[in-house]
This record gives sequence, structure tokens and C-alpha cells, in this order.
Amino acid sequence: MATKEKQIFFCKECGYESVKWLGQCPGCKQWNTLVEATAVKKGNKIVRDKAAAKPTLLSDISVDSQDRWSTKMKELDRVLGGGIVRGSLILVGGDPGIGKSTLLLQVCKNLSDDKKVLYISGEESLKQIKLRAMRLGEFKNPVSMLCETDLDVIKESIKEYKPDVVVVDSIQTMYNAEVGSAPGSVSQVRESTNVLMQLAKGMQITIFIVGHVTKEGVVAGPRVLEHMVDTVLYFEGDRYASYRILRGVKNRFGSTNEIGVFEMRETGLMEVSNPSEYMLSGMPEGASGSVIACSIEGTRPILVEIQALVSRTNFGIPRRTAAGTDYNRVNLLMAVLEKRAGLQIGDCDAYVNIAGGMKITEPAMDLGIVMSVASSYKNKVIDNSTVVFGEVGLAGEVRSVSLAKERIAEAQKLGFKKCIIPKSSLEALDNSFVKNLKGIELIGIRNVAEAIALI
Ligand code: TYD
Ligand code: MG
Repeated sequence: MATKEKQIFFCKECGYESVKWLGQCPGCKQWNTLVEATAVKKGNKIVRDKAAAKPTLLSDISVDSQDRWSTKMKELDRVLGGGIVRGSLILVGGDPGIGKSTLLLQVCKNLSDDKKVLYISGEESLKQIKLRAMRLGEFKNPVSMLCETDLDVIKESIKEYKPDVVVVDSIQTMYNAEVGSAPGSVSQVRESTNVLMQLAKGMQITIFIVGHVTKEGVVAGPRVLEHMVDTVLYFEGDRYASYRILRGVKNRFGSTNEIGVFEMRETGLMEVSNPSEYMLSGMPEGASGSVIACSIEGTRPILVEIQALVSRTNFGIPRRTAAGTDYNRVNLLMAVLEKRAGLQIGDCDAYVNIAGGMKITEPAMDLGIVMSVASSYKNKVIDNSTVVFGEVGLAGEVRSVSLAKERIAEAQKLGFKKCIIPKSSLEALDNSFVKNLKGIELIGIRNVAEAIALI
């Protein structure tokens, strides 16, 4: 019986399927992301009666703690929830050039001590990989390399070589002959992931998949596969700044509340075990508009410097920019300052920047932004042994934030002398904790007017 080829439309952002073309994807609400593709033909399978599967009792399932392997990079292990799990499928996403291949090559290097590792590249030649590997230092143990994009060949190679860990760089270059469309299209990327998933579960191999985040073009982004894999990690950071942040977005084997901080050096990615120190290096001394705020990234407090520059505008409409933080939030906080604290900043240009290129949108940064804007406007310096945090409401009140203890402890650890925090957070602290604090003064405030009076 001749079957007609079926055409289906896929969203290349989120993988939403539709039988007709739509301007806006109902799944992710993006415009113009639906592309046409041929639906995968499954063939005429003969359906037989199947034997019933036997359920297992939950109490009979044993979990072997040996099934987690350390990557010997503490920051990566932390994001993964304590190491990689045998037989899991891990997606590493990120912009091109951010360092995904470098990270995974380093993982291969570390794991090759006691594991059989296979690195499959569909993007670079063996020579290019070798050149990168040479920058990373000496590889003591063998790591096998394969340049291939045909998934059937890859499948056979994996079955024959029987590795413990496989890296597939990148999923968008993989090609499955059964699927008619071009490599990188939604149906190709999904089918390829499916095949890898079966290999990982069937042979108990840990597979890392690299996925590029794409803004334009017909290449499907990693979001299409998020629901299929066990763990999703995103690599972020400014291409021009040297630090990189690895964020867990999904993890079937641990919490997603963790980040790993790395620095890109000549010799590959180095772990940054104390991000606060790193972020605060090179701070200006005695400059107005500079404030140190404390944000929680994952479960770790990180101190960052907020800089603001406020000056009278030369044009009718004041200009405002926010780098590293939410633009609308900065505008809102400036309106609160004007209305609740009586600062005449409505006709001022304002530039707010988080130094170091980090992106932070936590509400606890509000008080820091407010104080840096006020400090720059009044041209008065806030001494740089002070740390501030707190959320600011529309009535100008300073509201309490979570994990106040951890933030204060981080400030104390780095030798800060003063902490300006919400009064309600201060009152909620245990007495014993406050008593044991040495060399750091806690100042609780109720509203922005009190904060400004401190400047
Ligand atoms: P890469 O891992 O190729 O990025 P991706 O796979 O995410 O596209 O990293 C590319 C960048 O990293 C490139 O701009 C060079 C830089 N880099 C270093 O700074 N130091 C190094 O040791 C290596 C290997 C790369
Ligand atoms: Mg790469």
C-alpha cells in the first residue's frame, strides 16, 4: 500500500508540533519559528501479542552509590549533584564559542584515568581537537576520538568499542539517514537524541550531548530536547569576560539550584572556588556610585559590585541603561527613589552596571541599586567595607530576603565591616548567630529614606 509522505510543522525553539503552519508558536509564543519537515515514517510493523511486563517492588530496587563518578572538577560535580550518573544523558547547551567543547574535553581528560572515554566530533577535524587538547596540558591516559556525523555509524562504533563515557559534539551536526530532513532540523535533532538515549539506557553509558543555542536560522536549539534528557546544563557568561557560569536547569539526579563558576584561561577552563573574591577584584577606591551587594546564585552567596553613574541630561528625555540587571527594575527603583525619598532624579541620565559582566536579577539586589544611584547622585562615597542587600517595594519599604545568614557570613569571610540589611531580616536572625559575629556591624533599615540617610 502506497503511503503519502506526511508533512508536519515543528517549532524550532521548543519543538511544538502542528499540522499546519502558524505565525506564532502556541507552545513558546515565539513568532516565525515553525518550519516544515517530513514526519518520520515508522514502517509497517507487525504487531504481535506481547507478554505482560512484571512490576518490581519499590523496596526491592537497590541503588548503588558507586554509580556516581566524579569528574574531578568540583564546580562541575556540584552542578551535577555530586558527579555523573552511570547511564544518564546530559545536555550541555550554550552560545557558540562559550567553551562547551573545551569543558567536555577536560572532562574526558579527567575521566580517562579509570574510564573508557570516546569523544565524537561532528564539527572539528581530529587535528583541531588535538590542537585544543595540547592547550589543556598533558593527557596521561588514552582518549579515543572519532570524527563522524552519521548516527548509524556512531551507534555501531559505540556498540563495538563499549566505552563508559561518550561525548557527542554537537547534536546539531548529527545525521540520521532514516529522517529525510537536513542535519540540525528539529526532526533530526530529536531522532538523534532518541537514538543516543536508547544507547545510554541500554548499555549503561553516560552520554554528554553538546547543543548550540541559536537565535536565527533553521538549526533547532537545545530547548527542543530538554524534556528528553536527564540533565540539562547551560553555559553562560559574556564572551568577552573571562568567567563562565554553568547552570543546572534540569536534573533528574539532584537539585537544579546550583551553579559552577569557571574562568577561561590560556590553558582551558579553571574552577573558581571563591567567586566573590574574583568578582570584586579591581574595585575602584573612593568612587561614588559604587556599592557591594550580595546575591544568592544557586545556593551560594556571591558578592558583586554595582556601579551607577547619574548625571543631568543634556536632552529632553533622560537616557537610562542597565547592564547585567533588569532595565525595567532600575527604572522602577529610580521612580521609588524620586517619590519616596525625594531625590530629584527624574531628569537625570542613569547608567547602572554590574561589574564583571555577571547577570543578576535577584530582588535582593534592589537595595544595592538604590544606594548606588543615590550615592552617585549625591556624589558621596559609600565606604567599600560595606555590603548591602534587601528587596525594595513600591512604597519604598525595604523587605526581608531569604538566606540572610549565609549572605552575612560571606561578607564576614571576606573581611567586610558593615552590613546594611532589611530590619525584618535582622530581627529574624538567631541571637546566638548575631552574638558570635565578630568584626562586622549589622544595620537594619526599614525604608529607602533610612538607607539614603546612611550615605
Ligand atoms: P570552545 O570550547 O571551542 O567553544 P564551543 O565548543 O562552546 O563553541 O571554546 C572556544 C573559545 O575558548 C575560543 O574563543 C578560545 C577559547 N579558549 C581559551 O581561551 N583557552 C583555551 O585553552 C581553549 C581550549 C579555548
Ligand atoms: Mg565546540
